Amino acid sequence: MNSCIDKRKIVIAVDGFSSCGKSTFAKTVAARLGYIFIDTGAMYRAVTLYAIEHGAIVNGMLDTDKLVDMLNDIHIAFRFNPERGASDIYVNGEWVEGKIRTITVSNFVSTVSSVPQVRAKLVAMQQEMGRGKGVVMDGRDIGTVVFPDAALTIFMVADPEVRARRRFDELVAKGESVTLSEIEENIRKRDIADQNRTVSPLRKADDAVVLDNSRMSLEDEMKWVESVLHEKRCL
Ligand code: DC
Repeated sequence: MNSCIDKRKIVIAVDGFSSCGKSTFAKTVAARLGYIFIDTGAMYRAVTLYAIEHGAIVNGMLDTDKLVDMLNDIHIAFRFNPERGASDIYVNGEWVEGKIRTITVSNFVSTVSSVPQVRAKLVAMQQEMGRGKGVVMDGRDIGTVVFPDAALTIFMVADPEVRARRRFDELVAKGESVTLSEIEENIRKRDIADQNRTVSPLRKADDAVVLDNSRMSLEDEMKWVESVLHEKRCL
């Protein structure tokens, strides 16, 4: 049952397409509630970066066996960064936050995240992180696979052009040299891959509440989530 029985800390699952603003939304909700924010996309990106840097992706091809053999060597951790108001991701003690959002990683992350052994490892970690509740977790399969019993599951959507523009502005602000059409192409391909992979495809959980933020400010989104939490008697 997707509701709050009392006002104890809960798990809030946030799923949706790429570049819908899930992380910004989830991070802000977590800060307002005093919850922990977990960006599961960063975990799939970190594994992808490791695969690129350790020779499991060569000439644009993923060597799945090699990646699976490497999985036990990949230790992922989050540490809170007060400047960002969110946790940074580390792989084997190395800060990789600055390297995981490049277009190169984005171009391979769907392939890496469709490997069942990768998903099994990361889902187990995510379930462990959310065990104590008081978390807002964003991803693609949080409300369907990781926490199907989350007290609140949100499915975020936004118009494709709005999403491409947001990701483009974000990358340009970081000094990456990309074109809008390159981003549109990447988003389009990832939507198809995310929805059609065999293991845990992206889909709206039956009990999810839909949030279309195409024309909403972050403050509008916060008012929306507050009213949903009140309605469910979680606040
Ligand atoms: O949220 P993001 O764009 O940073 O996620 C990167 C990729 O990781 C996305 O294309 C699909 C994959 N992903 C996933 O398969 N499952 C999740 N829970 C989170 C992300």
